[in-house]
Amino acid sequence: MKIPVSKPYLSGNELKYVTKAIKDSWISSRGEFIEKFENKFSSIHGTKYGAASSSGTNALILALRALNIGEGDEVIVPEFTMVATAWAVSYTGAKPVFVDCGDDLNIDVSKIEEKITPRTKAIIPVHIYGKRANMEKIIEIAYEYNLYVIEDSCEAHGVPITGDIACFSLYGNKIITAGEGGICITNSKRLSDQMKHLRGMAFNKEHTFLHKKFAYNFRMTNLQAAVALAQTEKLKSILKKRKQIEKWYNEGLRGLPVMVKIKRDVLWYYDILAPRRDELMKYLADNGIETRVFFKPMSQQPMYFNPDYKKLKAYYYSLKGLYLPTFTQMTKKEVDYVCQKIREFYGK
Ligand SMILES: Cc1ncc(COP(=O)(O)O)c(C=O)c1O
Repeated sequence: MKIPVSKPYLSGNELKYVTKAIKDSWISSRGEFIEKFENKFSSIHGTKYGAASSSGTNALILALRALNIGEGDEVIVPEFTMVATAWAVSYTGAKPVFVDCGDDLNIDVSKIEEKITPRTKAIIPVHIYGKRANMEKIIEIAYEYNLYVIEDSCEAHGVPITGDIACFSLYGNKIITAGEGGICITNSKRLSDQMKHLRGMAFNKEHTFLHKKFAYNFRMTNLQAAVALAQTEKLKSILKKRKQIEKWYNEGLRGLPVMVKIKRDVLWYYDILAPRRDELMKYLADNGIETRVFFKPMSQQPMYFNPDYKKLKAYYYSLKGLYLPTFTQMTKKEVDYVCQKIREFYGK
């Protein structure tokens, strides 16, 4: 049996909507599906406004820029995340300041305050692998120090927003996808308008080709939005199916030395901590099962290198963690096969 780590689930209106966009010849970054997708995605998350973009990384940049964050500012970013969270901050000219993770892999909220300085402008919690960060505490800290909160929800579609803006990725391995793409959601019309202005090169009302600030071409195409809308229509049922996959894995891995104690709010990838991780991954690969290692923490990235990286929990977990195949159309037979191979590996 061959089991990929991820696979898009394109079983709804994707083809119908893309075909319509092509037949109507609206294939660029104008067209009916962009606004429809923005409205549907934001309302499904209980939010008023959505601004689509070309990627999750770019969604984060738009959020930071709309909040006027840049040169001279600092932003609190988790140590354990995908590098794009930190890069988005660096691209604006601001400095990411890293906070280690707790045992749930999310930002350790008890360590945020010691990193706040007069230059700190925002916190970016990341809902790692579909587990919501401790937003109640983060909002409390943000209130006390008058900071913005931008949620990096790239791995957590379906988790309602608590911060000022939440940013999602629509890359091919995400819970829902547009191939590539992203979206920011917010309850502020001003912020949403600003993000749309910035993503579209900040064209001006006085003169089309007067640009009063540096902006971007981070627009989503109508073709991407056609897929994104069809995917969003199915989000609730996708999350339900993925919950079922999580249950199958929980049952199948019971009694094995892999650690699966963390309750997820939504299932992106099924992540585990495993003794002899690299050997296990090789054994699974030899049996046709694709897996991925955890993120490499920020303090081990060349541009953010910190020689004390070995003292961090993020380092410890990054060496033990992997994620197992997880895709919406995954069958019980496939989950059972993965679990059986893990059982075999540990001789149980
Ligand atoms: C936590 C996190 N932030 C940001 C990103 C960047 O999203 P994208 O690949 O759409 O730019 C990703 C995914 O790749 C991610 O997992």
